[in-house]
Amino acid sequence: MFKALTKTSFLVKAPYSFKLNNTTQFRRAFSLSIIAKHGHIHPPKKGEELHITFVLKDGSQKKYEVSEGDSILDIAQANNLDMEGACGGSCACSTCHVIVDPEYYDKIPEPTDDEDDMLDLAYGLTETSRLGCCINMNKDLDNIRVALPQMTRNVKSSDFE
Ligand code: FES
Repeated sequence: MFKALTKTSFLVKAPYSFKLNNTTQFRRAFSLSIIAKHGHIHPPKKGEELHITFVLKDGSQKKYEVSEGDSILDIAQANNLDMEGACGGSCACSTCHVIVDPEYYDKIPEPTDDEDDMLDLAYGLTETSRLGCCINMNKDLDNIRVALPQMTRNVKSSDFE
């Protein structure tokens, strides 16, 4: 028991630096960064539900109740819709391309330069195209409709089915 406590004390009081091969080595601080949880959405609180409808490639529609702040990419992935999100939602691909219903397009904040650059690379770009990872749900977007394009730049065999 005593030995175990001593060992623990040593670990807690370990020096910030130590010598190795006559050079001073610095211990790196242990730190945690926020883990991006893609496809993770929060269940909406009662009375605060927002709604989004996805128009799928086959023309069928799926409607979901979601929370404010959830991104369209996360909502799609949490519901196993066909939205790849190859860059993990960091606005560095265009595989989360969605075509927004014109009625809602102007309610979405203007795209950043980064989003515009990625949109230029999107397959089947339209005048109301946006990136799903760059749109977070808010009250103005309640009942928004977005369509998934027929293909993205990451072409896969299922795109031709
Ligand atoms: S997931 Fe890559 S740009 Fe949105």
